[in-house]
Amino acid sequence: MTHANGERNDPPIVAITGASAGIGRAVALRFAREGAAVALCARREAKLVEAAAAVEQQGGRALPVVADVTDPEAMRTFLARTVAQFGRLDAIVCNAGFGIYGTVDVIEPSQMRRLMDVNFMGTYHAIRLALPEFRRLGRGHVFVISSIVGRRGIPFMGAYAATKFAQVGLAESLRAELRGSGVHLSVVYPIATDTEFMSVMRRESGFATRARGPRQSADVVAHAIVRAFGKPVAEIYPYRPSKTLAVLGALAPSLCDRIVHMWRRAPIAASSGSESV
Ligand SMILES: NC(=O)c1ccc[n+]([C@@H]2O[C@H](COP(=O)([O-])OP(=O)(O)OC[C@H]3O[C@@H](n4cnc5c(N)ncnc54)[C@H](OP(=O)(O)O)[C@@H]3O)[C@@H](O)[C@H]2O)c1
Repeated sequence: MTHANGERNDPPIVAITGASAGIGRAVALRFAREGAAVALCARREAKLVEAAAAVEQQGGRALPVVADVTDPEAMRTFLARTVAQFGRLDAIVCNAGFGIYGTVDVIEPSQMRRLMDVNFMGTYHAIRLALPEFRRLGRGHVFVISSIVGRRGIPFMGAYAATKFAQVGLAESLRAELRGSGVHLSVVYPIATDTEFMSVMRRESGFATRARGPRQSADVVAHAIVRAFGKPVAEIYPYRPSKTLAVLGALAPSLCDRIVHMWRRAPIAASSGSESV
């Protein structure tokens, strides 16, 4: 597999936050198929250990570390253990995150703070702590898992969208700072993806939503990420047509408001038992 500096080299060494489920787990399995060494972090130990076993079954090496991305010391330990175990770090996938559904005035300040803490501060801690290792090696690859909602806000997802835009602002500035350093940064913009995301959002918001529009599997997102590893790809839209929304949002914001209003997620009662989006 090609490394971030373009050399063909040993199997990559990759750290992934939020690897116990969904997109993070799928990325771990995709890298494992390339023979990678994968360090996985998340809070739920049993799910993490199961994901690590799946990585090894796919031919990779695994290091599961229970850590909360909002805790910088836990993240420091996660990355230090990764380097101690595997010898270096080639890529970090800043993926841990969740959503809360509701109009901006309904979202409580405590919910907004928690969203920012996990989605944005978690990304910031991971990047900040991984960069010294990448600078030491003169190569590396940062993947920031944002969302198409990090390019264009949609109704009832304002608080979540704010955290996803914040990731993008940080990432775009850093990408420019890293020019010529050998370290790449790619921002990933998934659309609605079949993971635990909706059930977590239902739990956090108190009700479920039914989304309209296209969906993708976590493996499609993972495949796009692993394909981009080692290449200076600034942006990844795993569902390519979704880039149109980003462009339209910049060129014709009012028209875009009308479109996203038509495609908004409809609330359904939590008691209905449906988690479909
Ligand atoms: N699914 C979608 O429709 C969609 C669309 C666009 C973007 N995304 C983004 O994709 C990323 C992954 O989401 P997903 O869809 O794969 O959701 P998911 O299935 O719910 O997975 C989220 C992962 O993040 C971990 N996590 C959550 N809070 C954490 C914390 N404080 N510390 C450490 N780990 C934490 C969870 O593990 P534990 O609970 O075990 O900690 C889990 O492994 C998120 O950033 C999300 O915003 C998702």
